[in-house]
Amino acid sequence: MTPEVNSEQAALWNGPGGHGWAAARDMVDVVLQPYEDLLVAAAREKPRTGVLDIGCGTGGVTRAIADALKVPCLGVDISGPQIAVAQETANARFVEADAQVYPFKPEFDLIVSRFGVMFFDDPVAAFRNLRSATKPGGELRVVVWRDKEENPFMTTAERAVAPLMPDLPTFDSNAPGPYGLTDPDRTRKIFGDSGWTEVEFRKVDLECGMPEDVLPVYLTMLGPVGRALQPMQEQERQEVLQTVLRAFDPFVSNGEVRFPSAAWEIRASVL
Ligand SMILES: C[S@@+](CC[C@H](N)C(=O)[O-])C[C@H]1O[C@@H](n2cnc3c(N)ncnc32)[C@H](O)[C@@H]1O
Repeated sequence: MTPEVNSEQAALWNGPGGHGWAAARDMVDVVLQPYEDLLVAAAREKPRTGVLDIGCGTGGVTRAIADALKVPCLGVDISGPQIAVAQETANARFVEADAQVYPFKPEFDLIVSRFGVMFFDDPVAAFRNLRSATKPGGELRVVVWRDKEENPFMTTAERAVAPLMPDLPTFDSNAPGPYGLTDPDRTRKIFGDSGWTEVEFRKVDLECGMPEDVLPVYLTMLGPVGRALQPMQEQERQEVLQTVLRAFDPFVSNGEVRFPSAAWEIRASVL
């Protein structure tokens, strides 16, 4: 199938990006566990009858909410490699689809996402489509990254390799990518234009982490640096990796990597 929208993101998440995230799924769920906990707590705030997880990846958050609430949960992701390894459970199902255009039925009273809604080419069309999946009275609770300057851990690898790899792609703020919804004024307009109401932003600052011995795996599997490292010859890869690892020294202590992270929790409603 040739996607008509989000073709760049579809290529990335069905290519090396998606395969990296699929292979790293257990590690991703450890690193981002604090955000899973946040979304599970949000889901528990009210009785829910059906939950939709957008950009669900390999489905850790979908399964956690399904287990906690015991209601049907659907995870949707554009990434075939990740959906292929997303394990269904009694209440968690998964679909490979582009959430911007998938023909949802209005059967969900909660939409969640852990860093999966910042990648749309046309965010107004996408959030309008998500609104069509939501029952009257339903709500959306998603987390998105705040800007790069507030998330130094996420740019450490890119900065460390910049002298060696000046052509490495970088992510722009307010463009499809991890920093696609960093500006609350712009995001508020996107939500307003797509028909959502009662839009609220809350700053969320959480410490994330992983065991130190997992850091090299994290760095070689995820992000632009990981994708650049993968095809290198072993010796070159090790040299670049050592340069990158040194840049992470400030985050390492007692066998653990700990880092501050900065996100927005966005709430919105369908009246
Ligand atoms: C940063 S990952 C987060 C994955 C997952 N939520 C997690 O926390 O592990 C972003 C996800 O959004 C997905 N994505 C990007 N654009 C999408 C779209 N248009 N429709 C559905 N999923 C999309 C990607 O395939 C990727 O799995």
